[in-house]
Amino acid sequence: MTLGELLREGEQVISHRSVPRLEVEVLLAWMLGISKEQLFCSHDNGLTDDTIERFWEYVDQLAEGRPLAYIMNEREFYGVPFYVDERVLIPRPETEWLVEKVIELAGEKNRTDFSVVDVGTGSGAIGLSIARSLPRADVTLVDISEEALEVARRNAEGLALSGRVEILQSDLLNTIIDQHFDIIVANLPYIGETKYRFIAHDVEKYEPHVALFGGSNGLQLYTKLFQQIREMKMRPKYLLGEFGFAQTESLQELLDTFFVHHGGRAEIFQDLAGIDRYFIVSLDGLPL
Ligand SMILES: C[S@@+](CC[C@H](N)C(=O)[O-])C[C@H]1O[C@@H](n2cnc3c(N)ncnc32)[C@H](O)[C@@H]1O
Repeated sequence: MTLGELLREGEQVISHRSVPRLEVEVLLAWMLGISKEQLFCSHDNGLTDDTIERFWEYVDQLAEGRPLAYIMNEREFYGVPFYVDERVLIPRPETEWLVEKVIELAGEKNRTDFSVVDVGTGSGAIGLSIARSLPRADVTLVDISEEALEVARRNAEGLALSGRVEILQSDLLNTIIDQHFDIIVANLPYIGETKYRFIAHDVEKYEPHVALFGGSNGLQLYTKLFQQIREMKMRPKYLLGEFGFAQTESLQELLDTFFVHHGGRAEIFQDLAGIDRYFIVSLDGLPL
C-alpha cells in the first residue's frame, strides 16, 4: 500500500465527520516523523504493518471525535509546541491575544520589576508564553487541578523555564492573595451549565470539565475572581481575561459592579471573527 492510498482511505473514514481532511495528513506525517510535504513526494514510504495498524486505530479515534492534539500529545501555542493530554484543555489560537496584550502592557521586553500571574493555567500555555517573551519578569502559574499542574510543570521543563516560573495549586487567588502582581491574566472556564451552554459535543466528551464549566451561567469563577481582586491589599494594575459567546452583557455588569464603579476602567475586545471575547480592566485607571 502506498502513502497516497493510505491517506485517501483514512480521509474516507473521517469524511462523515467535521474533522478536517488535513488532520489525517498531519497524523500520518507525525507517525512517520516526516513533514506533510514529504508525504507527497516520498518514494520510500516507510510503512510497516505496525504503523498501518496504529494509523487505523488513530483514524478511528479521530472519527469518534477525539482531538488530534490528544492523540499526538501536542498543540502549538504562541509559536512553540506544548505537551497536552486529557488532563488539560487544548490551548486555542484565539487565546494568544491575551499573551500579546500582556506583553504590550508590560512595555519593555526586559523589565525586571514586573510580575504576572496566570490563573487557571492548564497546560501553562499563557503563563509560559509570557515567561518566554518577558525573560526577566516574575511569572506565577496557578490552577486548582493538580493533574493540570503536572502538565504545566512538564511544559515548563520542556521549555527550560522550570527555574524561572512559580507553579502552584490554588483555588483562584486563594493561596497568593497577599502577593502583589502587576498583571492578572485568566482564561477561566466560562461555559454555563444551564445558561450560555454553548459547547460542541466532542469538546464536552473529551476535554476536562473542570476546564470548561463555570457554574450555572458560566461566569461564577470570574465573579469569584473579581471579588478576590477587590479584597487584595495590593491590587494589580491590570486584569485580562477571555469569555464566551453571548456573555457580553452579563460580564459588563460584573465589570461595572466590581471595577468601573470603583474608579477602574474596563473594555471589551473582539476576536478575529468579530465576536466579543476578551476584557481588560485597568484598576488604577491607567490607559488600556
Ligand atoms: C479554560 S481552561 C484554560 C487553560 C489554559 N489557561 C488555556 O488558556 O489554554 C481553565 C483552567 O482553569 C482551571 N480552573 C478551574 N477552576 C479553577 C479554580 N477555582 N481555580 C483555579 N483554576 C481553576 C481548570 O483546571 C483549567 O485548567
